[in-house]
Amino acid sequence: NKGNYEHYMQKEIHEQPESLTTTMRGRLIHRGSNKSKSVLLGGLKDHLKTIRRSRRILFIGCGTSYNAALAARPILEELSGVPVTMEIASDLLDREGPIYREDTAVFVSQSGETADTLLALQYALDNGALCVGITNTVGSAIARNTHCGVHINAGAEIGVASTKAYTSQIVVMVMLALAIGGDTISNQARREAIIDGLFDLPNKVREVLKLDQEMKDLAKQLIAEQSLLVFGRGYNYATALEGALKVKEVALMHSEGMLAGEMKHGPLALVDENLPIAVVATRDACFSKQQSVIQQLNARRGRLIVMCSKGDAASVCPNESCRVIEVPQVEDCLQPVINVVPLQLLAYHLTVLRGHNVDQPRNLAKSVTTQ
Ligand code: UD1
Ligand code: BG6
Repeated sequence: NKGNYEHYMQKEIHEQPESLTTTMRGRLIHRGSNKSKSVLLGGLKDHLKTIRRSRRILFIGCGTSYNAALAARPILEELSGVPVTMEIASDLLDREGPIYREDTAVFVSQSGETADTLLALQYALDNGALCVGITNTVGSAIARNTHCGVHINAGAEIGVASTKAYTSQIVVMVMLALAIGGDTISNQARREAIIDGLFDLPNKVREVLKLDQEMKDLAKQLIAEQSLLVFGRGYNYATALEGALKVKEVALMHSEGMLAGEMKHGPLALVDENLPIAVVATRDACFSKQQSVIQQLNARRGRLIVMCSKGDAASVCPNESCRVIEVPQVEDCLQPVINVVPLQLLAYHLTVLRGHNVDQPRNLAKSVTTQ
């Protein structure tokens, strides 16, 4: 049921304040005599000790689910202290990469049925790793075959392009990082700030959704383009990959997400006055590095679309040479949830304006159950 919306993708983008609320329901709690804020993931509570002691955590997934894990990687590394590595499921299988009994392998999948991810799960089980599932589908193959896991509870997702599952996956993995990371005095303030940020996140998503018309206007300007580059780094490298994936899979426009730190090692050669380039430059520890990336692109007369935190337009783009998208600022590890929304809206509007099928893009399936 699409309700008042024309397409499922549109509905699913706009219902993210509600889907995120459901994802977090019952999982953020006040604990102990001092009522300190904490996270409770029922499906993991008997396995947290084992996960904390593991030698490595591997995130394994495909497509959007892989990107969500990439967005959560930095906070998991920070709070757990355990090395975190990333695996595209098919690539892990192609390489027969090493997996050990001391590893925790986390399988991220909206459908819970993706063939590549399922085969990687079988491979990790055969190698004796603790296997954790993060899925949206109760009773799915990944939910059944993992040792433990977390349902993201985002509600059924119909549009082939994943939107609300992406943001709910990130939130679950931030909660996973909080659950694994110890409650030490030294990280208490950080943990509390993240938990407060989680409580307020649906409101902030509601705020960023107000950019809908602005993204439609931007889509009109980009309607006839051949290509769109998206640069991000740190927490928002994933935003660049996921924004570009949305644009290519539904709008059928070439788009690449790129690590901004790699810009000078190749992509810079593409910069001219015509190619549109989006840069994610919201406030976090990487902000000044992104400012210098913008300066270098400006110096080569790049056609820039800059996403920045509210109030930062003048500091990211002093000479008004670029198009600025201002988004609400949240805790750094939650910022990818906010930043992806304008890019989801852009991909949606581009698709409609270009006359393509939004909910069932050419050649793609919601769940790829063959290898
Ligand atoms: C569970 C109930 C929820 C109830 C809540 C009350 C289910 C599906 N969930 O939620 O309805 O409101 O208790 O406390 O009945 N699992 C995997 N692999 C996965 C995903 C999950 O093995 O990929 C396992 C978990 O380890 C857990 C079970 O499935 O044993 C349910 O997971 P989840 O729904 O996330 O648990 P709760 O949030 O506790
Ligand atoms: C397919 C979908 O390729 O599978 C993508 O078209 C999705 O949207 C990918 O991200 C992975 O799916 P899942 O269900 O494992 O998250």
